[in-house]
Amino acid sequence: MENMIEVRDVKKYYKIAKREKGMAAAAGNLFNRKYETKRAVDDISFSIKKGEIVGFIGPNGAGKSTTVKILSGILYPDAGEVKVGGFIPYKQRKQYVKNIGVVFGQKSQLNWDLPLIESFELMKFIYKIPQKKYEENLRLFSKLLDMEEFINQPVRQLSLGQRMRGDIVASLLHSPEIVFLDEPTIGLDVVAKERIREFVRYMNETERTTIIFTTHDMQDIEKVCDRLIIIDKGKKIYDGSIEEIKNRYANIKTIELLLEDGRKETKTFDVSKTPMSVVMESLFSEKNIKDITLCESEIDSIIRDIYEGRVILDDLEAERN
Ligand SMILES: Nc1ncnc2c1ncn2[C@@H]1O[C@H](COP(=O)(O)OP(=O)(O)O)[C@@H](O)[C@H]1O
Ligand SMILES: [Mg+2]
Repeated sequence: MENMIEVRDVKKYYKIAKREKGMAAAAGNLFNRKYETKRAVDDISFSIKKGEIVGFIGPNGAGKSTTVKILSGILYPDAGEVKVGGFIPYKQRKQYVKNIGVVFGQKSQLNWDLPLIESFELMKFIYKIPQKKYEENLRLFSKLLDMEEFINQPVRQLSLGQRMRGDIVASLLHSPEIVFLDEPTIGLDVVAKERIREFVRYMNETERTTIIFTTHDMQDIEKVCDRLIIIDKGKKIYDGSIEEIKNRYANIKTIELLLEDGRKETKTFDVSKTPMSVVMESLFSEKNIKDITLCESEIDSIIRDIYEGRVILDDLEAERN
């Protein structure tokens, strides 16, 4: 099967003007202005096949949104190659946008003063969506996302969850083959999140839409995605299934210690390298321990451990290869 998304050795560096102190800076010393380079995306490669839903996660500032912007043609990469649906996004933007839908959860694309329905009409015009298809999609989407009651309200009056649903519909009315969702569930309550998850799954299952889903919510990933890509500091550190991480993690145990003086400490260790008996023996020989709790390895805590550097994924990658 052909790859729908192809990302090869992509880099994106931002140049940030350093703030300088003193009069010279205040006077705007343009010639001696110093710059810092921020490696937002630092040599990332991956490919995604038609019909895959891939969860794209990483701590704040990891480079997720920058990658999505490159994929959607808003930014050009400083190095490397990107091909999406046969197009080079930043070069062939005009034809390309017909193929894609993009949602930035943190930044609405809707007009705040207009009723939601009018933003949809605008999309119909911009994307030259045939009337019949527009009506079909609108009817289906507003039913799936339960939008009838607020579709005629101005966007500024909508709740965050309603607005997000509106944004998602606006970006999918032209039936794009590829959809980028950058934190579409951020700040939403459980019910609103669940609606969006179901909708995303539905689009994937019925239309075979290829989807990249950026989120901080591991439930989003577990319930929606087939595959997980983790990035950190502009680098890809994992690409595979949730199952694989969990299996690998079956050997990683976290223990919470309550000390005599009331302090708490956590220790993480790999029982395939240090047997539990050895760990326990060394813990019991320390006299200041009041209580020991063995923590559950839920996917949330696993991911937190990975972000905080308590577990290195190199081993995991090595095992896969
Ligand atoms: N326009 C910009 N100018 C300078 N630095 C930026 C800009 N956009 C993002 N960055 C920086 O690039 C890094 C990656 O940002 P981003 O892609 O938004 O991360 P994420 O979406 O994973 O939180 C961060 O350190 C961020 O501060
Ligand atoms: Mg972001």
